[in-house]
Amino acid sequence: MNHEKTMTIARKRGFLWSSFEIYSGVAGFVDYGPLGATLKNKIMSRWREYYVVREGFYEIESPTIMPEEALKASGHVDHFNDPMTQCKECMDVYRADHIIEDATGRDVEGLENQELTEIISSEGIRCPRCGGHLTHVWSYNLMFQTLIGAKGKKTGYLRPETAQGIFIPFKRLLRFFRNRLPFGVVQLGKSYRNEISPRQGVIRLREFTQAEAEIFVHPEDKTHPDFESVRDDVLRLYPASSQEEGLEPFEITAGEALERGIISSEVLTYHLCLARRFLMDIGVPEEALRFRQHLPTEMAHYAIDCWDVEALTDAYGWIEIIGIADRTDYDLKSHAEHSGEDLRVFIEYDEPRKIRKRVVKAEMGRLGPRFRKDAARIVEALAEKDPEEIEEALMKEGKYLLELDREFEILPDDVTFQEVEETITGEKVYPHVIEPSFGIDRIIYTLLLHSCVEEEDRTYFRLPPHVAPVEVTVLPLVNRDEMVDVAVKIKRDLRKNGFIAEFDSSGTIGRRYARSDEIGVPFAVTVDHQTLEDGTVTLRRRDDCSQIRVGIDDLKSTLMDLIRG
Ligand code: GAP
Repeated sequence: MNHEKTMTIARKRGFLWSSFEIYSGVAGFVDYGPLGATLKNKIMSRWREYYVVREGFYEIESPTIMPEEALKASGHVDHFNDPMTQCKECMDVYRADHIIEDATGRDVEGLENQELTEIISSEGIRCPRCGGHLTHVWSYNLMFQTLIGAKGKKTGYLRPETAQGIFIPFKRLLRFFRNRLPFGVVQLGKSYRNEISPRQGVIRLREFTQAEAEIFVHPEDKTHPDFESVRDDVLRLYPASSQEEGLEPFEITAGEALERGIISSEVLTYHLCLARRFLMDIGVPEEALRFRQHLPTEMAHYAIDCWDVEALTDAYGWIEIIGIADRTDYDLKSHAEHSGEDLRVFIEYDEPRKIRKRVVKAEMGRLGPRFRKDAARIVEALAEKDPEEIEEALMKEGKYLLELDREFEILPDDVTFQEVEETITGEKVYPHVIEPSFGIDRIIYTLLLHSCVEEEDRTYFRLPPHVAPVEVTVLPLVNRDEMVDVAVKIKRDLRKNGFIAEFDSSGTIGRRYARSDEIGVPFAVTVDHQTLEDGTVTLRRRDDCSQIRVGIDDLKSTLMDLIRG
């Protein structure tokens, strides 16, 4: 695990590049080169296999530009801020919490801007670049703003998370899932955050890819039908209480973590396990992972319990690569309030229930025919309201104001209350949302970092065969026409059958194996003298350099077994 070495190979061999290099580059953006883009696509396909195919969630795709109203409702316009400070001399900007943490080692998560300003001044913290004084701390909104339309009348933002694109069409999704809970919807795509001076290269990006699942569950039923399948999975947990008491993370089975109330629900525990299985499947070693619970001070405005999957890195310490949160009903409620749409789900009882209900009747005769339509709407709106609330308002103010298109006063004399018995078959509830949110770029960085193996005579990415960007290299042992022809034919045939195969004939065979290993190709097929005699090739494994002989006719099925498992 060595950041410098990994990034050097990743750059040199076409995995990751800094974007806009010929124009001096812009921090916070990366290009995925040919191998990086292939690796990324494979990881995203694998993710889809886990979440769409096996879990049965459906994928949607929504726009990356969103209107202001939607992000006002989600809380991002008002709350998606970082504390910022600026050097009065060189005008460099900094994240106030980072600069304090770097200078003092203090954890200042959750402190108000005023408190951060005081620390900067009392500790005499100066600009790291020029030593100048820093300004007070203010809130800086992380979203990229834009204007929608030729006249630019509508403010829009690039989405800061893919999740919102799932909450907004919730009503349509609910209908698609035949009005039943639970159900899950996923979205994979770009998100944007205008991070303040991103120092951490590839992990703090301004444009990055998320893979998010939003699982809508009944608020009082956070069980998971398949929990038994993960009950014995061992998780390395770092709960908030351990962090507060200065204790270390510990290992515990999923079942025990749930029974001891360390993780708040079965469905959340299940998704911690699934994330761990996915990461191990794509080749991230278990020892590099831990699950850290958010401290109450760092919890997002929408969550009641949140666990970050963190990966160990030599350059940045533990970094968050996945966030798994219980977002409760925050988003749906807020979008319902802001849009005026009813985003609740009707939950049918097993048996119909009889209830006694106080109903409210309003006498609208006095309004006259001109207002009859409005009057009907008022009665309808009153029926939606809680009679107690109406009665209280009438008692307090002597009248009840309804905010419809026009305002009407309902006077106490107009209103009567009655007790009625009613049979109800169910009730409307806001679902709660469980959200595993994967940062694909950080996962790729972690994977490259931990799969980079240095041996005496070679350095290579030990990527599992099913995620390696190139699956097989075909090599003629020596550059003789007969061998080259057979090798080219094998490569073409493999490509036609869906394998990502490369051909390499330049340099010594040892050099070519090393080149193939370096980018993580798990298998090399060599055409040699014997091939020309008996139609067999050598199949070499990258990890232990062992070789077996395989008939050309059996090559496809052998590789299929080795790669796809
Ligand atoms: N919908 C919830 C959400 O967006 P988050 O913890 O802010 O939660 C989820 O982001 C994941 O997205 C993180 O765990 C991280 O992997 C990735 N991510 C967030 N900000 C990022 C950035 N600036 N650069 C790269 N990845 C980022």
